Amino acid sequence: MADAFDLTGKIALITGASQGLGAGFAVTLARAGAKVALAARQTGKLAELQKQIEGAGGTAHAIAMDVTDAGSIRAAFDDAEAVLGPVDVLVNNAGIAIPKPFLELTEADWDAVLDTNLKGCFLAGQEAAKRMAGRHDGSTGGGSIINIASVLGLAPIGHLSSYCASKAGLIHLTKAMGLELARVGVRVNAIAPGYIETPMNSDFFHSPAGEKLIKGVPQRRLGQAEDLDGALLLLASDASRYMTGTVITVDGGFLLD
Ligand SMILES: NC(=O)c1ccc[n+]([C@@H]2O[C@H](COP(=O)([O-])OP(=O)(O)OC[C@H]3O[C@@H](n4cnc5c(N)ncnc54)[C@H](OP(=O)(O)O)[C@@H]3O)[C@@H](O)[C@H]2O)c1
Repeated sequence: MADAFDLTGKIALITGASQGLGAGFAVTLARAGAKVALAARQTGKLAELQKQIEGAGGTAHAIAMDVTDAGSIRAAFDDAEAVLGPVDVLVNNAGIAIPKPFLELTEADWDAVLDTNLKGCFLAGQEAAKRMAGRHDGSTGGGSIINIASVLGLAPIGHLSSYCASKAGLIHLTKAMGLELARVGVRVNAIAPGYIETPMNSDFFHSPAGEKLIKGVPQRRLGQAEDLDGALLLLASDASRYMTGTVITVDGGFLLD
């Protein structure tokens, strides 16, 4: 079964690879044999990650990319393809949150979150799909676009309305893209993580408010980045060749409560 998730010969581009889950996804995909293009704005962190992956015997290439800028996305794909070859897997992971009560949310806050989390996935997804389209005949998994959504796109919580709306939009975009792109050999699926510990949120989850949230998770623990590996490898590999338009929740049962 381990071979089913072998990514040897595949090229994956991960947005938001400079830290947190995106950096973890890049390491996991590289370990499974993929050559990985690491895309984000903080190029110093990407260069460090490239070194780490290469040190472990993998192949990686760091690329500056701002997902809110179509020109930057196009240039990043050109760069990735020139150095590594045609991209088979796109992980649309870049995302931001601006926690605020709804009544205090500004138009600029709204635009920043929606431009990054939803429009960014449209722009990168369309760029990837244009390049993947027609390259595969349907006998293999074809091109795979993996959108990193959130359980908050399925069930909202307070003070994150723009984030929740962006992730709900991303889940529906996943289905709409899956529907249209099936005919051209491109699959589009989403992972909806629950609460996953990263360096950015670790302090919060160890505070009394964070601990209270964890008590609401049926499995009674915070997720770790590695808990997403199963869903990631499934969707990136040909093992998911008959899956498109799906949303896989990885949340310790959070949505059941
Ligand atoms: N951690 C969780 O509990 C959790 C749960 C559900 C869903 N998620 C989702 O998982 C994804 C990663 O979250 P995380 O916790 O790893 O967050 P994080 O540590 O804050 O990392 C976010 C990443 O997004 C990149 N990014 C932000 N704006 C960008 C832009 N305009 N262009 C390119 N890259 C951009 C950042 O890179 P630069 O600053 O270098 O550009 C960074 O690498 C997000 O989509 C998030 O919504 C996280």
